[in-house]
Amino acid sequence: MNQAWLGLAVTGCGSATPHKVVTNDHLTGLVDTSDEWISARTGIRSRHVIQEGESLGQLAHQAAIAALEMANLAPTDIDLIILTTSTPDDLFGSACQVQAKLGAHRAVAFDLTAACSGFVFGLVTAAQFMRTGTYRNVLLIGADVLSRWVDWRDRGTCILFGDGAGAVVLQSRAEDQLLGFELRSDGTQGHELTLGNQSPMQELTSEMATQQGSYQKIYMNGKEVYRFAVQRVPEIIEKALFRAEITVDQVDWLLLHQANQRILDAVSDRLNIPREKVISNLANYGNTSAASIPLALDEAVRSGKIKPGDVIAAAGFGAGLTWGAAIFKWG
Ligand code: ACO
Repeated sequence: MNQAWLGLAVTGCGSATPHKVVTNDHLTGLVDTSDEWISARTGIRSRHVIQEGESLGQLAHQAAIAALEMANLAPTDIDLIILTTSTPDDLFGSACQVQAKLGAHRAVAFDLTAACSGFVFGLVTAAQFMRTGTYRNVLLIGADVLSRWVDWRDRGTCILFGDGAGAVVLQSRAEDQLLGFELRSDGTQGHELTLGNQSPMQELTSEMATQQGSYQKIYMNGKEVYRFAVQRVPEIIEKALFRAEITVDQVDWLLLHQANQRILDAVSDRLNIPREKVISNLANYGNTSAASIPLALDEAVRSGKIKPGDVIAAAGFGAGLTWGAAIFKWG
């Protein structure tokens, strides 16, 4: 094994969202809400949602193509594809479908589920394969289509979510650009945010019955999840910075899961990170779950905001409950 190549760098990114845009005003026709309330309490103005014939796999594929192009790699160069999602097209997983669509026939592919923390958990998982020298070129995709699972009569949740996909290419490098990370889970609080199984029984014979699989809609205790995010996210970023052996003023960009502008503001305030260093695009996309961090990264890179060598503090948080932070240099 070549010890000189056990680091990794993020060398490409891409994203995709459905064409259909649902504005706050559209939602006022569904639930008792207003553009003013949604904008003031969340910062969200619109979100993109998939329509008939569209799928998670299509969005993931589109984002992956863009990331591969930026990294100047062909699909056949990829060793591993990790698709982080809670909303696969197929409950057995959608990563292999993306692999097939890309023609990435050398790559092993699997799904990873950690809700809105999925991208950060996926990044750290990919790094383990790369730091052991097992794989050199990894495609990490965060994609979700939560619109399929939203209760469109629940004004506490339907205003928040949108669909999308973001992808990054990770390549082995001599100098490791993933500077530090920290991951956490707390299943005891899992009931605050769920998309639970609710399978009615079906009788097979007079002595035997079985569950017929189906799921409920998204349930969220917004206040509790908000409190959890504002408390836990600054802590975990500080932990990851400590592991990276850098201080908060060396961070160029704070890239949080795009859940709510008030959470972004509160976390940056607690960390004393000035607002101009906070990446935010949730006004146009809402909360796209596992897609939100790579989607925001892609926009910031392509607009020239994030430049090669910039230090990014990324953090995801959400159902599980799960939360995690990763400090990495772009490019
Ligand atoms: N329009 C108008 N009024 C509303 C709406 C709405 N869409 N939603 C709630 N309200 C009302 C409530 O009924 C309540 O009225 P009341 O005082 O008469 O009872 C009032 O507004 C305040 O409600 P709160 O729930 O206290 O509103 P809050 O300011 O907490 O905002 C929100 C709610 C936006 C959901 C917020 O709690 C939040 O962002 N939570 C975190 C969500 C999050 O970060 N999730 C991340 C993970 S997602 C994942 O992992 C899949």
